[in-house]
Amino acid sequence: MSEYKETLLTKDEIENAVKGVAYRIHKDYEGEELLIVCILKGAFIFCADLVRNLDLPCEIDFISASSYGSSTVSSGNVRIHKDIEYDIAGRHVILVEDIVDSGLTLSRLKSFFLSRNPASLKICCLLDKKERRQTDIEVDYSCFTIPDAFVVGYGLDYDSRYRNLPDIMVLDESVYNH
Ligand code: PRP
Repeated sequence: MSEYKETLLTKDEIENAVKGVAYRIHKDYEGEELLIVCILKGAFIFCADLVRNLDLPCEIDFISASSYGSSTVSSGNVRIHKDIEYDIAGRHVILVEDIVDSGLTLSRLKSFFLSRNPASLKICCLLDKKERRQTDIEVDYSCFTIPDAFVVGYGLDYDSRYRNLPDIMVLDESVYNH
């Protein structure tokens, strides 16, 4: 039996959407310098593809945060394992996230970043699971709105596996309900 229920998004669909969002960012920030902050671990592939399509001067930094552990639902308890290295005061910052679900991770990170006085702060995500939202966090750039299914691949994991899949797959419930 397959571990996957279906393919939700193919690598070609993802590639097109990432190029589209990179183009929108390019238009909005023309003439500016950007600081891109990749939220590890899930966003590492999306962020790598995004910046390769971004024709703007930018620096890239990384923050490591997690809230899920080995569960399929957010604990709401967001832990920052590694902070960024750059000073963001006066900079135009974009936080790059793989998926916004409850929104708890980004709410916490947004307050954390705003307290450091950036010139501007926006949020870019690959997948937006709008119907699961528990906060009023605004996503500025999103590639896809997706239904409430547990997805893996293209950086997203279940229990640290599946991040290396090129497509985004819906995981079969038998994998996590046992
Ligand atoms: C995932 C994902 C987001 C967060 C989204 O991270 O990468 O950061 O959950 O969920 P939320 O909107 O309900 O807060 P996870 O804790 O699984 O860590 P990872 O990125 O290292 O896989």
